[in-house]
Amino acid sequence: MQTITTLAELRETVLQWRDAGERIALVPTMGNLHEGHLRLVEEAHSRAERIVVSIFVNPMQFSDASAGAGDYKNYPRTLESDQEKLSGMTIDVDVLFTPSVEEVYPGGIENETRIEVPEISNILCGEFRPGHFVGVATILAKLFNMVQPGVAVFGEKDYQQLLVIRRFVSDLCFPIEIVGVPTVREGDRLAMSSRNRYLTSEQRKKAATLNQELLLAKHSIKNGLTDFSAIEKKATEHLKAAGFRPEYFSVRRADNLQEANPEDKDLVVLAAAWLGDARLIDNIRV
Ligand code: PAF
Repeated sequence: MQTITTLAELRETVLQWRDAGERIALVPTMGNLHEGHLRLVEEAHSRAERIVVSIFVNPMQFSDASAGAGDYKNYPRTLESDQEKLSGMTIDVDVLFTPSVEEVYPGGIENETRIEVPEISNILCGEFRPGHFVGVATILAKLFNMVQPGVAVFGEKDYQQLLVIRRFVSDLCFPIEIVGVPTVREGDRLAMSSRNRYLTSEQRKKAATLNQELLLAKHSIKNGLTDFSAIEKKATEHLKAAGFRPEYFSVRRADNLQEANPEDKDLVVLAAAWLGDARLIDNIRV
């Protein structure tokens, strides 16, 4: 596995692959890799001849990045162990792309062109993290143009992010297949996430409650309950009682995340809640 940090070197490598007619798969990440990320790499391997994994903690998607503070500053940066995890896989990752902030945003973040997907970017996580999905869409559009993949692979844990990506890729005619991979979970069904490391051991024991509430909601809907706001209210109360600070717990249409009606058949229940210093998200399809 070759680690590349500059756009010039990346372009040279990608050009050779494209000249040879090889399909490229991109797995964009912010590092601090866990089994969930490695599963994305495996999926990429099954879909293309060449694999690029990117690690870039993207300041544009953190509201506190310009202040050099909070979540952005503290986001775990673990390049060496990430490199070891990728190299230790039985499949070959061709390139690990780890550009600097200056390489990605040479004009300065404030001056760069941005991509905004309307409506879906401003609800649920977007309501609590204003500007977050603009940052996500913008960095991915850049990475797509840098790497020129035929396919890009993402985790379904970030369900809203996946829909935002599908929308801008379709709206802006990127010739890229977007693949979602089911969430990889711990033994108690807590979704794997880089942010789980912020949980104390006491909180870690309680963290699976989030997924349990989603499962309960799913069963209620499957058993014919159509009062979604009652389901949401009950789950929110349970989470609060377990020590969470819920941001939302919401039953939505799976295709566009609009509020669900009892007639809607394809649903997703999504939740975001703080437990101590960790902001946990999860979802379940119904
Ligand atoms: O899901 C993430 O890790 C990030 O949002 C992504 C897709 C790598 C964009 O920075």
